[in-house]
Amino acid sequence: MASLPLGNDNDLDDSQFYNRVNEIKFISDNLELTQKGSTPTILLTGIRGVGKTALMKKLKKDFKDEYLVVYADLTAMDKFKKDKLNRLCFMKLFYESIIKACDESNIITIDKKIMKYFKTHNFQLDKIESVDKIPIPILKSEEDYPKFASYVMDLPQQIYNDHKEQLKGVLIFMDEFQMLKQLDEDVNGFLWYIRSVIQTQKNIGYIFSGSMSMKDQLISDIAGQHGAFGGRILNYEIKIFSYETTKNYLTEKADYLNFTDDGFKRFYKCTNGIPYYINSFARLLPPNEELNEEKIIVEFKKSLEYLLVNLTNEWYRLNKQEQRIIASLVEKPLKRIEIANKLGVTSGAIGTSLKTLQNKILIELDNDKYQIYDQIFKAWLKKEYEEKGDYPY
Ligand SMILES: Nc1ncnc2c1ncn2[C@@H]1O[C@H](COP(=O)(O)OP(=O)(O)O)[C@@H](O)[C@H]1O
Ligand SMILES: [Mg+2]
Repeated sequence: MASLPLGNDNDLDDSQFYNRVNEIKFISDNLELTQKGSTPTILLTGIRGVGKTALMKKLKKDFKDEYLVVYADLTAMDKFKKDKLNRLCFMKLFYESIIKACDESNIITIDKKIMKYFKTHNFQLDKIESVDKIPIPILKSEEDYPKFASYVMDLPQQIYNDHKEQLKGVLIFMDEFQMLKQLDEDVNGFLWYIRSVIQTQKNIGYIFSGSMSMKDQLISDIAGQHGAFGGRILNYEIKIFSYETTKNYLTEKADYLNFTDDGFKRFYKCTNGIPYYINSFARLLPPNEELNEEKIIVEFKKSLEYLLVNLTNEWYRLNKQEQRIIASLVEKPLKRIEIANKLGVTSGAIGTSLKTLQNKILIELDNDKYQIYDQIFKAWLKKEYEEKGDYPY
């Protein structure tokens, strides 16, 4: 009996990774342009749980025998944070990810080569420390940042130049790219800097992805007409599983789930075609038992708290005003002033909370109106209110 992947497992093996044939073909075709000396840059968007990370990890496996593939999850910048999250944290993480990729690569070896880069690059390093076999250059002072940054940003092309015979190109996947918004600096300026470097490179392909609302300002800062990469970046959206895909998926991978037609329709409606919810909910359903519409409704109510465990944790960590803003949006999307009126405060008084909630991707702004991002989270709040007479503050 094949088992469905866990909802939080995005490192899927080939027997677990389902479909996405067209997506893989499209992205691969673009990434392969690096062979021809052009630098494709892709912005991979899609709602939370749709499978962006899983797809990148799959691409990484597919490409790793011919390319050097660097995967950096920007949430890990945190570990380099001293007093604030800044560009240096980004560069250190990027550097570490490149070296890790070299280390894991069965095409190239870093050992002596990387040391050579340090020596030929004429900036003053305090020392080179070795952490887990990874040589880490320690800067004398933060003033060396620009040199370190240009060194790190150039490193992929350097590595390519030194391994032309073995490598078709270098691919860089940056996940959770929205973390850049947390940097204590001018994000847009930083994006323009990255773009200026990337456009001089010839054999490096980039994918930026992460949990962003489709309406996120960051997306237009990157890919919009006046954005840093405007016109030079491919904005590609990963879509939810269609009704048919979901049906075929479960028939193939979970044939022990005996849906009636109405039961399956309801299942699809509950999960919204989001692979995260499809796997998580399907794993909670009883095997070899008729799953009709009523049964699915009952099971869904029971499962909600498990499906939403991450989001409800976030909810309980919000402050009262942030919670009340979300609660005000359960019935319908509202303008900022309407939210303020409901809370009995001025519009100015909720600015910070709105930003926080947007950054956490709990709400999003769509044409002047704020709305709750995740439909299933919204359903949970509604249910809590109906059962308990109030929201779970
Ligand atoms: N192609 C796929 N086949 C099967 N399950 C998938 C696939 N893509 C994603 N999933 C499921 O969805 C979950 C969420 O995927 P993830 O890549 O973390 O989403 P995102 O990065 O877009 O938020 C995974 O943990 C996995 O359970
Ligand atoms: Mg992800």
